[in-house]
Amino acid sequence: MTHLTKIVVLVISLLLGLTVSQSTTYPCPFYRSLSLASPVVSGDDVIILQGLLARSVPDLPISGIFDEFTEVCLMKYQSMYNIAITGILDVNTANSILLTNGDDGYTDNGQIPPGFKYKVHVPVYRNRSIETTATLYDDQLNVLHSFTVRTEGQLNTDGSAMNQFCGDGATPTGLMTFDLNSAEPDPAAFGPYPVNRAVQGIAGNAFLLISNVRDGILMHTGQWTGWNPSMPMPNSHGCVHGHPEDIDTVWNILTSNLNVYVRNNTFGALPYLYQPQGVLSIELID
Ligand SMILES: *[C@@H]1O[C@H](CO)[C@@H](O)[C@H](O)[C@H]1NC(C)=O
Ligand SMILES: *[C@@H]1O[C@H](CO)[C@@H](O)[C@H](O)[C@H]1NC(C)=O
Repeated sequence: MTHLTKIVVLVISLLLGLTVSQSTTYPCPFYRSLSLASPVVSGDDVIILQGLLARSVPDLPISGIFDEFTEVCLMKYQSMYNIAITGILDVNTANSILLTNGDDGYTDNGQIPPGFKYKVHVPVYRNRSIETTATLYDDQLNVLHSFTVRTEGQLNTDGSAMNQFCGDGATPTGLMTFDLNSAEPDPAAFGPYPVNRAVQGIAGNAFLLISNVRDGILMHTGQWTGWNPSMPMPNSHGCVHGHPEDIDTVWNILTSNLNVYVRNNTFGALPYLYQPQGVLSIELID
């Protein structure tokens, strides 16, 4: 649009009491303008917006409802980053907040919270195409297995990687409970072995997302067509992908050495029926 056309559209929109719709250009997970409105706007996108805003304005509660205080915080954010102070999450503000506040700053503390039998630690790079080495620890923090993982999600239509706030994007960083579930019914997509399921976020972006916004985040393998272990693994829809040999080793160690039970697969049903037996800790290292 030319400058003049934009002004004309804006004026017409204002006259009609409408906001300019640019839904196709919002960066995932955002897809619409968010603002104080009547009736109030609510949804997962508001939860994520509030979670990200709270990194600049820490007393903002994450209610999932765009209320007056959310508007105030959004204006404060826009003022901090020299964006037009509108109190509206437009495309520009959405791009900005993902960039400036998307990192959770979560770091693994080298511990395992009490009551859990195992921890899987996964360092990740901003560029999720780079596969990394995950480590399986017991509750005394002994290293039981190290293995290659891939945490890249689906790609946007422009070829860029979907971020961790998108439904099919990269595996979220942070700390979350983790539990061994029986194998998924589709071995081609998930492998023939029991899988580990991310159950509930405890810290970082995982706290914001799992399982109220994103679920079905598993650690699994697959019988990937044309793939062999010398190759990078395929991208997932948010899961942690591992080589077949490693995913087989992990569940065998868990059940044989650590008395971890294989829970009947819940297929993401909430509330989760069992006490999670492990934790998954994913941290950004660049
Ligand atoms: C990300 O990493 C992959 C694998 O190492 C590499 O091929 C690609 O060029 C990297 N992308 C960027 C943007 O650095
Ligand atoms: C697991 O699922 C099977 C098949 O539905 C059922 O027979 C079995 O009782 C379940 N086991 C537990 C521990 O819930």
